Amino acid sequence: MDDVYSRAGDKADPPLLYPDYRSTAVRSPRQPLITIPQTISEITGPVYGHSDVRPEEADLTRQHAGEPLGERIIVTGRLLDEAGRPVPNSLVEIWQCNAAGRYIHAVDQHPAPLDPNFTGAGRCVTDANGVYRFVTIKPGAYPWGNHLNAWRPAHIHFSLLGPSFLTRLVTQMYFPGDPLFPFDPIFNSVPDAKARERMISRFDMDTTKPEWALGYIWDIVLRGPAATPLDNDND
Ligand SMILES: [Fe+2]
Repeated sequence: MDDVYSRAGDKADPPLLYPDYRSTAVRSPRQPLITIPQTISEITGPVYGHSDVRPEEADLTRQHAGEPLGERIIVTGRLLDEAGRPVPNSLVEIWQCNAAGRYIHAVDQHPAPLDPNFTGAGRCVTDANGVYRFVTIKPGAYPWGNHLNAWRPAHIHFSLLGPSFLTRLVTQMYFPGDPLFPFDPIFNSVPDAKARERMISRFDMDTTKPEWALGYIWDIVLRGPAATPLDNDND
C-alpha cells in the first residue's frame, strides 16, 4: 500500500538532536530510520476513544469542586492547512502545569504547590471554521533540570489529532513577552526566528472578557511555509 499520510516533517521543525536540550542526546535516533508501511487500521481507525468529546472538557477551570487558583484565560484560534483553509472536526488536546508551575505527575517534584482544583488537561473538537477554544488558567514557569537555573517559559502543550493516529501533531504554545525565551533550549531548538514567533500566542482585547478572563489567540498551521513548529518532547 502506498503511504496515505506524508511522513515528511516541515522545515520549521526542530532537529531531533539538539545538544543544548540535553535529553535529545539520548532520545534521538542513532541509526537510519526504517520505514514501516502504513496499515489499514492506522489510517482508518477511530481516534476519539470510547466516548464523545463533551463541551465542558474545554473548560479546565470547572473540573473540580472549586475553581483553580491563578489568572483565568481564554485560549482560542484556528487550525489551518497550508493554504490557510480551516480544518474542521479535528480533536485538539491540551495539557499544562498549574499557576505555580507544577504538573500533577509523579515525576514532577518541583517544590511548588499542587492545586486540588486543577488537573491541567482538556480537549475540544474544531468547529466548521476550524476554531478551537479553551478556558483555563495561565500556567507558571517551572525549573526542569536541563542545566543550572533552567526554567521553561510558560507554555501549554497541544496535541492535534487529524483523521487518524498517523496524523497526530504535538507542539507547544507560548505567551507574548516571556523573559525566558532567550534562555530556553526547547524554544530555541526551532532554528528559524520567524518560526519561533509562530509558537507565541498574541494577547487579544476582543477575546478578553470584561471582569472575567484575558484572551489569547493562537492559530496553528499544519504544513507549508507558515507551519507551526512541532515539538520534540513533553518537558
Ligand atoms: Fe511542559
